[in-house]
Order: sequence, then structure tokens, then C-alpha cells
Amino acid sequence: MCNLHDHVPATADNSQDGLRRLVLAQPIARFGHDGGPTEKELMAQLGPGTVFMMGDNPELSTMPKRPTLLDFFRHRFSDITFRHLLQSAKTALDAGHEEKIVMACLLHDISNGALIRTDHGYWSAQLVAPYVTEEIAWAVQYHQALRYFADESVGFKYPDSYKSYFGTDYTPPEYIQQAHDEARNHRWYMTSRLVTIYDTYAFQDGWDIDPEDFTDIIGRNFREPEDGLGFDNSPTAHMWRTMIWPNNFL
Ligand SMILES: [Fe+2]
Ligand SMILES: [Fe+2]
Repeated sequence: MCNLHDHVPATADNSQDGLRRLVLAQPIARFGHDGGPTEKELMAQLGPGTVFMMGDNPELSTMPKRPTLLDFFRHRFSDITFRHLLQSAKTALDAGHEEKIVMACLLHDISNGALIRTDHGYWSAQLVAPYVTEEIAWAVQYHQALRYFADESVGFKYPDSYKSYFGTDYTPPEYIQQAHDEARNHRWYMTSRLVTIYDTYAFQDGWDIDPEDFTDIIGRNFREPEDGLGFDNSPTAHMWRTMIWPNNFL
């Protein structure tokens, strides 16, 4: 992935330079499978010259000191999420939709990029809520549930991809069904439904979209904090910091 901001001062201190830094997998990433060495095994390795990772992990791309939304795209998002969000937003833009729809598409799976996949609509909405309109955050949250339910009136069918992802007999849990019912009767239903429509077709290879193309739309629809995402004391600043320093022991 491109690394356009290497020239910008890094966020971190160098206080662990020269030390061997141990990384413990996050608890949520350990359940149900081998998540690598346990806390106990790593603690046994501590000693002179060996510590737990805190601050910048030299294995990761260095974030700018005051990161913006696109810095997370460039430095932290998985390749698939990077392309998926840009393709989704571009497709909505080319179809002539309002900027609120384009912005919701650009953000809809943001937590999948570098934070957490489980309940990704809810995490994504919470992450961006301090910086976007209530309607955009709402659309991001509800797209998770709406993806499971067809709306033939706007040409949305149950995604074929979900049949291969989850099995042909998969039924979403009750809270997802309830969220869908709530959303169907809401005044912002179509905002979220449009996100699901431009979600479906946005996994193609071969598109080369420059994230900078969205700079103006982001400028009008996402309140970038002056101190940078993660450092503005917003209710979700800690979530952005978690993406900047994902390997911190504490
Ligand atoms: Fe999604
Ligand atoms: Fe998506």
C-alpha cells in the first residue's frame, strides 16, 4: 500500500529502540483458534532487553503525528478494505448520488479495515459518529442488517457472496432481524439501503482509485479534528489510537 506521508513526523517516541518487543494478540483475536503465544508464555520471555510492545511498531507503516481519515486508509487498512471502500464510494458518486451517500459508502466498513470485523456496522458507525452527520452514522450502522434482507423495489437481492461466506441455510440472529425491521420504517432507510446497493458490486479487482479524489467530499462531510484522529479527546479517540498502535500491551 502506498505510504504518502513518510515525510510527515511520526507519532511516536523512540523509547523502546534497541529492545526486543513482544506482541501479544488481542484477546478477541485469540478465541477459538491458536492466536500465538499466550500472555504467560510471553511474560516468561521478559528480561533485560526484552519488553512488551508499546508505541510505534517498527513493522508497521508510520502514521503522521496528526492523522486524517485518509491516513488510516493509506497506513492501516487491509488491501481489500482499502479498495472496497473506495470502489463503493466511487460507484455511488458516478451514479450521481448526494455526497452523504458517497460519504456513507466511503465509511461503511471502516472498522473491518483495521479494528474489528464482528458487528462491523455498529463499530464503524460509532467510530465515525463524532465526525459525520447523524444520518451518515445511522446509515453505516444499519447497512450491516440491511445487507441480509432483499428489497426488490430498489433491485437489492440477498447477496450471492453471503451464500458462499455463510452457507445457504444461514439465518441472521434476532437482533439483526429487529434492526432491519426498525430500519425499514425509518426516514433514513434509503440512505442506508443505498449503501448496501453500492456495497454489493464493490469487490472488483483492477480498479485504481486515488483516495485523494475524495478529499473535497471528505472536507465537506467529515469534521477532521485539528489535533488529528486519536488525539482530539472525542468519545471515540481511543478507537482511532487503537488502530495507530494496535500492538500496545496495555
Ligand atoms: Fe459491511
Ligand atoms: Fe462493504
